[in-house]
Amino acid sequence: MEIKRTGPVIFSGIKPYAGLDRALKSGKSGVLKMARDSNLKGRGGAGFPTGLKWNLAAGSADKKKYVICNADEGEPGTFKDRILLAEYPCLIFEGMIIAAFAIGAEKGILYLRGEYRAFVPFLEKTFEQMRKEGALGKNIRGKEGFDFDIEIRLGVGAYVCGEETALIESLEGYRGEPRNRPPFPVDTGYYRHPTIVNNVETFAVVPHIIAKGVDWFKSIGTEKSAGSKLLSISGDCKNPGVYEVPFGITIKRIIKMAGAKNPKAVQVGGASGVCIPKKEFNRVIAYEDLSTGGSVIIFNEKRDLLKVVKNFLVFFKEESCGQCTPCREGIPVLIEGIERLKEGKCDQEYLKDLFSLAETMQLASKCGLGQSSPNAFLSVLNNFKKEYRLSKIKKKEKKFNG
Ligand SMILES: Cc1cc2nc3c(=O)[nH]c(=O)nc-3n(C[C@H](O)[C@H](O)[C@H](O)COP(=O)(O)O)c2cc1C
Ligand code: SF4
Repeated sequence: MEIKRTGPVIFSGIKPYAGLDRALKSGKSGVLKMARDSNLKGRGGAGFPTGLKWNLAAGSADKKKYVICNADEGEPGTFKDRILLAEYPCLIFEGMIIAAFAIGAEKGILYLRGEYRAFVPFLEKTFEQMRKEGALGKNIRGKEGFDFDIEIRLGVGAYVCGEETALIESLEGYRGEPRNRPPFPVDTGYYRHPTIVNNVETFAVVPHIIAKGVDWFKSIGTEKSAGSKLLSISGDCKNPGVYEVPFGITIKRIIKMAGAKNPKAVQVGGASGVCIPKKEFNRVIAYEDLSTGGSVIIFNEKRDLLKVVKNFLVFFKEESCGQCTPCREGIPVLIEGIERLKEGKCDQEYLKDLFSLAETMQLASKCGLGQSSPNAFLSVLNNFKKEYRLSKIKKKEKKFNG
């Protein structure tokens, strides 16, 4: 599968190591400044500023630091990292090497989704080639004292292990359960050393920024969302696939690109994202509006959105690590609520309680899984009232004695 394109292109043919060689010439502080000035934000979903993350890790006095590439790609409807791993592995690793240079790390880990294990021999061969070219190993690209290498570690299919602290727990051999934050991984990460965790796409963008410059990068996208985004488009459309789009693209344009006929809803951000109705198709993909790790699922008129939401909630119920109450106990109640709505056995009072539960889950769950699990529920119930009918509130009968 190839990346389909529209508008300015980032994932294009820059020369191998053009970014790395320029990074080495610019020095650590030069790279850290470019990372910050570029306004690059994490492509894994949360949109945390990459430059800030790298600067925090670089500032630590600890001599041991780590660079981790999050290739867990577990969000339903996301498959863009798979394409990068298959088509542009050198770019991802070049981004990791640049990060290692900037923060002072000697070891990198590619945390690879278990289902992608078939890539391992190909990725190992890529490492071998990069070692021959002096891009991994000792004195990288002739830079005296800059040593760095990457190891692959496999996940085993738990969605929560994509959350960066659960990922680190799993790397250390423990159950993949999110840690309390703070402390954050940039300070207390892998084996308690400063660690940066970035998404596959984030790393793959970095060599382009360093090679072509911050101004070029910021000329693409919007003021608050620099650059482009890879979207994994699926659902009821003629042309599903991975698309590179500039930030600021409207949902309407995406629908046209994907060849979708008369959709009634678009789910942006996967199971943890939001369901956008027709009247909001002018909204844009950008951190300041619809932020997404890349999943875009299109639904046509025939789809039962309550069924869709129930599927997402069942997914979260299975994937919840069970550590905290709002997530563990809240998700089954929302599932029951959907069933009652489908059967017309839910009244206004009960619906109000469900909304208040969903909002509590967003606020009180420990990690992003529980916090985002009610998003689809809330957006469908708010935006698609025709999908369900409420039962009449039974009036309490007054009892008289005698
Ligand atoms: C339940 C859950 C699953 C996640 N899965 C992934 C994932 O598969 N890939 C990813 O890059 N980030 C995932 N994240 C986000 C990571 O915790 C982290 O923010 C990200 O890897 C940081 O990289 P970035 O700043 O480059 O986006 C997940 C978060 C949560 C809460
Ligand atoms: S929110 Fe859910 S997945 Fe996250 S720590 Fe709590 S129980 Fe585990």
